[in-house]
Amino acid sequence: MKVIKVFFAGLLLLPLTSCVQETTKKGDEAIERKVESILSRMTLEEKIGQMNQISSYGNIGDMSNLIKKGEVGSILNEVDPVRINALQRIAMEESRLGIPLLMARDVIHGFKTIFPIPLGQAASFNPQIVKDGARIAAIEASSVGIRWTFAPMIDIARDPRWGRIAEGCGEDTYLTSVMGAAMVEGFQGDSLNSPTSIAACPKHFVGYGAAEGGRDYNSTFIPERRLRNVYLPPFEAAVKAGATTFMTSFNDNDGVPSTGNTFILKDVLRREWGFDGIVVSDWASASEMINHGFAADSKEVAMKSVNAGVDMEMVSYTFVKELPGLIKEGKVKESTVNDAVRNILRIKYRLGLFDNPYVDEKQHVLYAPSHLEAARQAAVESAILLKNDKDVLPLQASVRTVAVVGPMANAPYEQLGTWVFDGEKARTQTPLSAIREMLGDRVQVIYEPGLAYSREKNPAGVAKAVAAAGRADVILAFVGEESILSGEAHCLADLNLQGDQGTLIAALAKTGKPVVTVVMAGRPLTIGKEVEVSAAVLYAFHPGTMGGPAIADLLWGRAVPSGKTPVTFPKMVGQIPVYYAHNNTGRPATRTETLLNDIPVEAGQTSLGNTSFYMDAGFDPLFPFGYGLSYTTFEYSNVKLSSATLKREDVLTVTFDLENTGRREGTEIAQLYVQDKVGSVTRPVKELKRFTRVTLKPGEKKNVSFELPVSELAFWNIDMARVVEAGDFGLWVAADSQSGEEVFFKVTD
Ligand code: GLC
Repeated sequence: MKVIKVFFAGLLLLPLTSCVQETTKKGDEAIERKVESILSRMTLEEKIGQMNQISSYGNIGDMSNLIKKGEVGSILNEVDPVRINALQRIAMEESRLGIPLLMARDVIHGFKTIFPIPLGQAASFNPQIVKDGARIAAIEASSVGIRWTFAPMIDIARDPRWGRIAEGCGEDTYLTSVMGAAMVEGFQGDSLNSPTSIAACPKHFVGYGAAEGGRDYNSTFIPERRLRNVYLPPFEAAVKAGATTFMTSFNDNDGVPSTGNTFILKDVLRREWGFDGIVVSDWASASEMINHGFAADSKEVAMKSVNAGVDMEMVSYTFVKELPGLIKEGKVKESTVNDAVRNILRIKYRLGLFDNPYVDEKQHVLYAPSHLEAARQAAVESAILLKNDKDVLPLQASVRTVAVVGPMANAPYEQLGTWVFDGEKARTQTPLSAIREMLGDRVQVIYEPGLAYSREKNPAGVAKAVAAAGRADVILAFVGEESILSGEAHCLADLNLQGDQGTLIAALAKTGKPVVTVVMAGRPLTIGKEVEVSAAVLYAFHPGTMGGPAIADLLWGRAVPSGKTPVTFPKMVGQIPVYYAHNNTGRPATRTETLLNDIPVEAGQTSLGNTSFYMDAGFDPLFPFGYGLSYTTFEYSNVKLSSATLKREDVLTVTFDLENTGRREGTEIAQLYVQDKVGSVTRPVKELKRFTRVTLKPGEKKNVSFELPVSELAFWNIDMARVVEAGDFGLWVAADSQSGEEVFFKVTD
């Protein structure tokens, strides 16, 4: 693809505040009239053709025959603007009705300029930076002709064995809701028919992240109440943010595959939430209902998918093959097909595709300096400082020699992370290159990777790295996961560092030199041993194109870490599922339990005083949700509530003082948690309800306030009604999900 890179001098990143998505809603009568007009002229075959999505394959000629026949409504995985225009021209000028194609691609965390993986972006607790990143991705992708992305992925994930935890925003319903909505607004921009807007596609609807055993595509069992209290809210928030398409998930929940699940696709998504966009299946998730044992053959696949509410079938072609017959047999009504086609045409009109189907083949806005700067800032804010003994970080001028070791120090491909189809490793700035560029000859940099890639076992390489590191003042060890070790179908039963990385860190620590461990991974890893022997640990996830400069800035104090864990880090895999918003149980852990090695031999059996914990792991995780350090310290005080007794229609105002009690400026992500003490069903011990980033200079103190409408304490209760139940509540303003002083308030009838 010939790309003439034209950079906007300084891309004005639209101050995408909470401007409501101005997509026309169904009420846009002009569009509805156009939809009805074209629908009335379509043959049944043309209608079904709009419901068919193909993945681009080499030969345009083969695809053009299908397009001319009106057998294709959308094409994914075509990113060459010349080819996109050629395909579009066939649709516009050689098909009978000239309905434009909807060109789609997985633009998950950047198109060419790659941002940190979404799990990393979630660690920023900064919806604006996430929105800006999605906006940039949309500007870059739309500049080659992509107008539909299959993102944001907002599956709640509480099992880091699941490779796709990398792609989402972690374990928390509220954080994921905020971040997902921000991505939708970033992708779609202020007006959907702007040529730089791309249709968002919240996925995978729904419950995919609860796959049994953390094994991808596996069955889930999420009862309706937990579905509504935990897994559905981010998708509802995405609809409110104006999302124009949805994608079904691969999993069967309580025996029903999402692609055939009328309850979620019609009752919830359409009737309760009023969604009027496109529902697309996942890749062959329709035909996979045969594997599920939910459909006997392609005919039943098509019938169950369409009747459940799927508008467009991704690549498995049963709609084209089976719907004409099913309609003849009365097993699918033509009105059902008409509704599906209305949804598809509506979004094509909203995107402005009928008026502007083509893309400029010469001008593309790729890797603009402002894009790269935004990606660097996102990487800075996505990094989490997990340990910093004796303030070894930021590195001081007294450090004259650093050793840069480990397989991730100079791994431009791996650093980009999962779901990167169009990013180019040649554009990646790695930690090694950034450190060398930043330090020049002021500091000697000794580079010895030791291991060529994260899975490598190479004792000789380890020895070489250790020998080199021994000459340094400080050792910077870059470890983690190759990008392929997370993402779709890439699940792990063991979350320890792969290969000889653990051995490397242990050997480096034995040199007696301070080891700063930087982890680049797609998920939380069980790094307890490495944390123990490292002086400092910085968790950067897969930080994207600009991860190197971001990490170098953080290590040398040009930037201050502010990230917080968007997901709980387990001590060991056996603790999974482990997450902060758990129920209390009838025997909650006291954290004073006698652990394995302290239990006397022939200890007496008893059922008294037992609690819910692990003898070999205790109760607490390695790092709780919402945790992260800074180069300074913060103190919370003076928490005040606007009232200790509230009605359902009230708004609770929570104020508190936050002081920077350290010696450097820093940003704290203050979090507000609530506990509903007693409910008609058991309730989580804590739920995140607000967060905010507060930047303070040394010694500066600010009075910060949160506004929390009591209505946001609503949950789906014993009667399966969404209500606020009167009663006692606990509230914490804290630095993470395990700290803070509890205060109390009541909600009264
Ligand atoms: C994949 C993924 C989905 C993606 C789609 C198209 O299997 O599950 O997230 O958008 O296929 O690539």
